[in-house]
Amino acid sequence: LNQLLFPKKNEPPMVFHWFPIIGNAVTYGMEPYKFFDYCREKYGDVFTFVMLGKKMVVYLGPSGNDFIFNAKHADACAEEAYKHLTTPVFGEGVIFDCPNERLMEQKKFAKAALTREAFQRYVPIITKEFNDYMLSSPTMLGGDKSKQTGVTPLMQAMPELTIFTASHCLQGEEVRSQFDTSFAQLYTDLDHGFTPLNFVFPHLPLPSYRKRDEAQRKISRLYQDIIEKRRKNNDIQDRDLIDALMKNGTYRDGVKMTDKEIANLNIGILMGGQHTSSSTLSWMFLHLGAQPELQDKLYEELCNAVGGDPNEIPLTYEHLANMPLHAYTVRETLRTHSPLHTIMRKVMRPMFTPDKKYVIPAGHYLLAAPGVPMRDSRYFADPEKFDPYRWDVTKYSSDGSGDEKIDYGYGLVSKGANSPYLPFGAGRHRCIGEQFAYVQISTVIANMVRCFKWTLPEGQFAVPEPDYSSMIALPPPPATIQWVRRM
Ligand code: HEM
Repeated sequence: LNQLLFPKKNEPPMVFHWFPIIGNAVTYGMEPYKFFDYCREKYGDVFTFVMLGKKMVVYLGPSGNDFIFNAKHADACAEEAYKHLTTPVFGEGVIFDCPNERLMEQKKFAKAALTREAFQRYVPIITKEFNDYMLSSPTMLGGDKSKQTGVTPLMQAMPELTIFTASHCLQGEEVRSQFDTSFAQLYTDLDHGFTPLNFVFPHLPLPSYRKRDEAQRKISRLYQDIIEKRRKNNDIQDRDLIDALMKNGTYRDGVKMTDKEIANLNIGILMGGQHTSSSTLSWMFLHLGAQPELQDKLYEELCNAVGGDPNEIPLTYEHLANMPLHAYTVRETLRTHSPLHTIMRKVMRPMFTPDKKYVIPAGHYLLAAPGVPMRDSRYFADPEKFDPYRWDVTKYSSDGSGDEKIDYGYGLVSKGANSPYLPFGAGRHRCIGEQFAYVQISTVIANMVRCFKWTLPEGQFAVPEPDYSSMIALPPPPATIQWVRRM
């Protein structure tokens, strides 16, 4: 208690709290950005708060991002912060349940399913899934295909659409078809293993925990059966992530990934993209619902890119390259509603902040909040405003080169870890799914504007405030939009 109330002099300032163990868990958990803003005003960019007995050192701003994302693995470790949450869900031997060098190689193996050639195959798959979903899903049309107007709960529709499109692209038809069966429920059970409760208590004798573990075993088994079948039939091609890992999954030291590890990595990667992408889609549709004139601009861009009626000319990956407003809209959604508000590492050896002002003791946790600079007026003018055009570098750059590394009035946006814009993180744990997410989300939005026009529900004039009570910043359900068919 003494240490909590009177921190050592060279440690970052401690945020005041009334209750010793609980600390600031409630304020942080409910409104993380308000909490960060408040603390920054009072203590500066670096401060420590107590969350359920853990000491969390927050380092805000681009320098904080750089410090945390680029920390040496021996100093600040992701697996020690996350593995108790992720291992029961993803399974053994992958992501954080293995040495970090293994994860680095797993990410490299997986990239073979995230190439340009792969994206060329994925765009028509995503469109097909979109068409099937919009026409047949009870969530969208209530089972009535002739329906001309309707109301859709995004918080139900977007997770469904995301898992259908991502599983079909990344894991092939065999896995995709399972989502039309009771298998879908297994993924739901597994997903329930990703809550703040699981983060605090990884193992409890509760039915949801038992279901999580059973779902993990069954899903992993199903993938292993597919892997065995493909191997037996000599049917290993370049279709998806399963093929990519079967082909490339040999570590530098000659050790091969086991079938179980290939299965579990497939689970981990599918789930890594699930809530991040589906929440981005939901937020994007809400913002576009609040600004329907942007939908018309997107539709216009789509027609120009395909060179005619998009109902007649199918969208391709090449078309997407000529649809910058679609990309800006995704980018702006990720700026205003970055799915991950908190990224953590466990400190393994005492670390000095770059200015040597503070030392962060081993055993503390580092907390990066890349969303903070993304909504800071020092980097993004009028940060509250949803304005995809702010990303139009040709509009703002002096030379119109479109080089992303130039300062165009909204701050220096680059891929380095000290950029104010890092929705996909940086450094060794950086996301491998960024391009896939852009392809998936842009393709869905293009199809959506091709078929529909929509608004927020009657009487709702603004995009709702996020709900932070899960691990992802989500729109409060049901998050509906009201649509009519585009004629
Ligand atoms: C890592 C965000 C989609 C797979 C990350 C990280 C962030 C992030 C911030 C870094 C986490 C950290 O440093 O601890 C997002 C967002 C997405 C998205 C905003 C969508 C809008 C995807 C997709 C996939 C994916 C579609 C898979 C195809 C991964 C993987 C990692 C990762 C494998 C690496 C984990 C590690 O090295 O520790 N993502 N992601 N993500 N993401 Fe994504």
